[in-house]
Amino acid sequence: MSAALARAVHQAADVPRVFTDPLAARIVAGADGCPAPDGVPGMPAEVRLFMALRHRVAADALGAAAGTGQVVVLGAGLDTFAYRNRNPALRVFEVDHPATQTWKRERLAEAGIEVPDTVVFCPVDFTEQTAEAGLGAAGFDPREPTFFLLLGVAPYLSRAALLDTARFVARLPAPTELVFDYNQPPATLPPHRRPALVAQAEAMARMGEPWQSFFTPSDIAVELADAGFDSVTDVGWQDCLARYALDPALPDLFGGRIAHARATGQEGS
Ligand SMILES: C[S@@+](CC[C@H](N)C(=O)[O-])C[C@H]1O[C@@H](n2cnc3c(N)ncnc32)[C@H](O)[C@@H]1O
Repeated sequence: MSAALARAVHQAADVPRVFTDPLAARIVAGADGCPAPDGVPGMPAEVRLFMALRHRVAADALGAAAGTGQVVVLGAGLDTFAYRNRNPALRVFEVDHPATQTWKRERLAEAGIEVPDTVVFCPVDFTEQTAEAGLGAAGFDPREPTFFLLLGVAPYLSRAALLDTARFVARLPAPTELVFDYNQPPATLPPHRRPALVAQAEAMARMGEPWQSFFTPSDIAVELADAGFDSVTDVGWQDCLARYALDPALPDLFGGRIAHARATGQEGS
């Protein structure tokens, strides 16, 4: 809810808007609702902007990907891509914890948001089942070029679980792309940025959803190459500010980064 509220507030409160989501407010507040435009309680504006930026980076990458026949939204939460998609040939698999997915489906119904035939719900608890097994049971076609989104999820997964998912994606027979955001180890950040990251990590732990994995950019490059990806673009806060013509003085609070990995497909697999 917090991530979705950030996107909803971003629509009205952030200038310039970097990520446009006409369903963001509805899925948060219901058919007639409109969230207060002045912020998400307890969330600095720069964190809200990062949440919008990771979706924009992913949307741009998806827009540029050739021949995509399937999109898999891993840890979908209240993401609305599947309900904004108007391409009847693009199947969208929403993979999420069964409890979250049930709650989302109730919210979609309450908000009157139509669920297109292209949406495939795929309930998976990553602590009990792999995305691969869940997708297989839901009719995922491994021979179809596929774009995977994993936004706002990687920090909650163990390092092993994230890298298992990366290997699965990179070793599919068809071309694949994966976009995810990650946090850096606090000790590797400049000292002035560490307290905010540590405070946020502690707040998540108190809520029972501790951050479990941290990576440096060089870790990401090595691990994704090992997993089987052919190329990786990895952008940080300043890269995003430059890419989207935002104020370069906006402070980078947590050092969050966004990785975009591409695999050409391992035909024999
Ligand atoms: C911070 S939310 C991000 C949601 C969405 N991707 C977004 O950007 O708004 C984290 C998501 O990870 C999912 N998640 C966390 N632990 C999970 C698990 N063990 N199995 C499946 N999904 C999980 C949650 O259900 C939630 O949808």
